[in-house]
Amino acid sequence: MSAQEAIPIYTNLTDLYASLGTSLNHAERWANLAEEFEKRFGRKPEYIVRAPGRVNLIEHIDYALFGVLPAAIERDILIACAPTTPLADATPHAPGSVFAENLHPKYTRQEFAPAPKAKPSNVDDDVHVEGWHLDIPQQLRWENYVKAGYYGVLENYFTGSEVHPVPVDLLVTGSVPAGSGLSSSAAMVVASTLAFLAINGKLEGTTDKITKGELVKMSMENEKRVGVNSGGMDQAASVMSVPSSVLYITFYPSLTASPTPLPGGAVLVCAHSLKVSDKALTAKKGYNLRVVETLVGARVLARTLGIPVGAREKITLREVVGKLTAETDVGAGGKGMDVPALMDVLQKMAAAVEQLKPSGSADPDFGATMEEMIAMSGLSAEEFHEVYMSWVEVDATHFRLYKRAKHVCSEALRVLKFRKLCLDTAVAGADPAAGNLVALKELGRLMNESQTSCADDFECSCEELDLLTQLARDAGAYGSRLTGAGWGGCTVSLVPEDEVDSFIKKISETYPPYKGLVGDALSEVIFATRPSTGACVYKFD
Ligand code: GLA
Repeated sequence: MSAQEAIPIYTNLTDLYASLGTSLNHAERWANLAEEFEKRFGRKPEYIVRAPGRVNLIEHIDYALFGVLPAAIERDILIACAPTTPLADATPHAPGSVFAENLHPKYTRQEFAPAPKAKPSNVDDDVHVEGWHLDIPQQLRWENYVKAGYYGVLENYFTGSEVHPVPVDLLVTGSVPAGSGLSSSAAMVVASTLAFLAINGKLEGTTDKITKGELVKMSMENEKRVGVNSGGMDQAASVMSVPSSVLYITFYPSLTASPTPLPGGAVLVCAHSLKVSDKALTAKKGYNLRVVETLVGARVLARTLGIPVGAREKITLREVVGKLTAETDVGAGGKGMDVPALMDVLQKMAAAVEQLKPSGSADPDFGATMEEMIAMSGLSAEEFHEVYMSWVEVDATHFRLYKRAKHVCSEALRVLKFRKLCLDTAVAGADPAAGNLVALKELGRLMNESQTSCADDFECSCEELDLLTQLARDAGAYGSRLTGAGWGGCTVSLVPEDEVDSFIKKISETYPPYKGLVGDALSEVIFATRPSTGACVYKFD
């Protein structure tokens, strides 16, 4: 199973992309990066690591621990790296020091070195104390993502170790537009984590090589250091994707990734709304607030359904659904209930979720004030703050537990319907002219429903995304929705394969922010992509 697989290491691009055509499309970029590295650092890179961005077909349910359906895209982050050569007089560099450059001319060279922390003598050996100091300001600067990846490698492999991390030269380049909902940040953190693992010999030759599943978990932790409590989908998609398929990823009871082929006859088109929304910047009123609302909603729902929840437990909606059905096999590595059983219980959740409307709420959107929410949770104010507020900052007067849970449960069901339709179509071997068309229309309908739910219940859309998705449907897409965290960034549309060019032309003529964009400027903001391969390492001879 892919979570247990080692990170692939390649020595040629055709194997890496699993396709000669795709490798030819990308070869120039790789060669240019290697040449630039040599010019800047005076030696060839030892590795280039690659981590792709991702497009997601269904949203905001990963931190509720429901399964998701993303796919890696061809756009990616590449990092060329090699151990730093000692100075001319053979003076060694500080252990683990980093010399990082970015191919984009607007980014300046960065140099930094981590420092080991001494463990206080009054702390027991079995208590984890962070072992390294590396200043990571919570600002959206590319080097902070590099540092975030490095920090996890230091903590996991060099805490208390006699062996020092290797000083390293890095050259970064990326084609995933930042703040666009295509997970440029996860791709940066996965690529950085991989680069430091590779350069420190943690991917090859050891008996306990890091698995894809472990890399996902490490990258999730690493990304939290830049300020976002992201749910794990982006990192899983970037690491575990395979070509031509969307990936059905489960997080509960365990991390699994099953490739699901999209019916032939359509491609995914990503279109940037040109409203930049970075979840790290808007987290207090956006992403992190939704995480809190979703978690508190799960507790309140559990209470109303008579499910016991420990005072310190942060139960998720997926676990509530499991407890409702006395789900078994939920230990580490467990499989939990099967998909038909999960679909069945999700069908019944809509009625249960109605109970989350606070009685007598003055808010037309069924929001609860902080006091009302604490009362609904059954916790004391102190316990509540400790469990739900101490690890994250949020900024809201009303918390809309009902609408958030309504979105999550309905979206979780849409994921399963979408996947079932893809699998059934693949089994039936339907011909594109007939069977696939029916399936593609239905998949598009599910995407449209998801957009409505994101806009109305999860309130993570915005005017630009609403307009762009509508224009996409008018231009012939089977379905269209926002992708990523929302509040800006990209949409994803399922578009008939033979109509991609005319689709892009129509959008360029009708979406006002695209007026005047042609050529490369246009293909920067709207492009078709096929599901691509996940993170990997290229090793030079
Ligand atoms: C962001 C997060 C993901 C996921 C999506 C919404 O991209 O990083 O973990 O929650 O938003 O689906």
